[in-house]
Amino acid sequence: MLLAIESSCDETAVAIIRRVEKGPELLSSLISSQIEIHREFGGVVPEVACRNHAQRIRPLVQQTLDDADLTLDDIDTFAATRGPGLASSLLVGLAYAKGLAAASGKPFYGINHMEGHLLSPFLESGHIPPHLGLIVSGGHTMLIDVQGHDQYQLIGRTIDDAAGEAFDKVGRMLSLPYPGGPEIEKLARSGSGHAFTFPRAHLKDAPFNFSFSGLKTAVLYQIQKLEDPQEHLADLCASFQASVIDSLVKKTIQAAKKFDHKIITLSGGVACNRTLQESLIQAAESEGFQVRLTPPALTTDNAGMIALAALLASENRPPDDLNIGINPNLPLAIT
Ligand code: KG4
Ligand code: ZN
Repeated sequence: MLLAIESSCDETAVAIIRRVEKGPELLSSLISSQIEIHREFGGVVPEVACRNHAQRIRPLVQQTLDDADLTLDDIDTFAATRGPGLASSLLVGLAYAKGLAAASGKPFYGINHMEGHLLSPFLESGHIPPHLGLIVSGGHTMLIDVQGHDQYQLIGRTIDDAAGEAFDKVGRMLSLPYPGGPEIEKLARSGSGHAFTFPRAHLKDAPFNFSFSGLKTAVLYQIQKLEDPQEHLADLCASFQASVIDSLVKKTIQAAKKFDHKIITLSGGVACNRTLQESLIQAAESEGFQVRLTPPALTTDNAGMIALAALLASENRPPDDLNIGINPNLPLAIT
């Protein structure tokens, strides 16, 4: 029985997992979202996030235990996200989970938030086959060659904005509520992806890297050129989204071919985007590849994915020392 805490950004989350014969069983996974609070500021305010984590963590741990019909004594192992993320936010969850482990003398695992996203499509089986992982979140865009659990090679990343960050920044330019991603997807449904021609970055020397800042600037110039941008909202959203999706899908398929992977996974908050899911599945199937999506409850930040990563870690390596600290820039893999 493993309890995991996630607090790397603006969601306080707690989950409890255990391994049963057919695979991991997520007994409870609760999220206390701060989106409404940060919406007022148009983005995450670290100091506000940290204070809210500190207020919410204790009751949320209790609620998660109640939800699973367990008490703290039933928990055998504790885990928390130790990076990457906002330093002050990470500190709250990590310190709390280490405190629970220290007080009970139970083992503790510090988990990489991106590994949580990466492994989330495999909650059902709890087995990590070789695959190509595309992670698209608010802070990261990564292509990872995965050979198995803890065998990760980073083969591509964004050189400027993350995909989700681009959605959020364009959302702000269009005066949409934070976070921009879901709002843009909704509006894009009634627009045309061909209405405006926005760039797709080609990075000659690093073909699997991404760049979205040129696109963001192109959208800004287009907005400035229009007399009434609000009248073209749906087309602007659809054309921007089409450019992001084109880059993501094209590079992912090329990488799957180069690294000889038949399975592609899609994870991270932007993986909620249905048009992205459909485009990737269509492109992958035409090449004979299979796409594994993340279960919807595990797509945006949550502790279920941290619990899964911690469960696999506990089966593969010794626990971490309780002196382990946060690392806001914790790398997932080294190339
Ligand atoms: O993984 P996540 O919850 O947090 C990070 O680790 O960053 O990702 C949040 C990001 C935000 O940028 C949000 O705008 C984006 O995911 N997002 C979406 C959609 N839902 C969430 N982007 C595009 N389309 C969506 N439907
Ligand atoms: Zn995340």
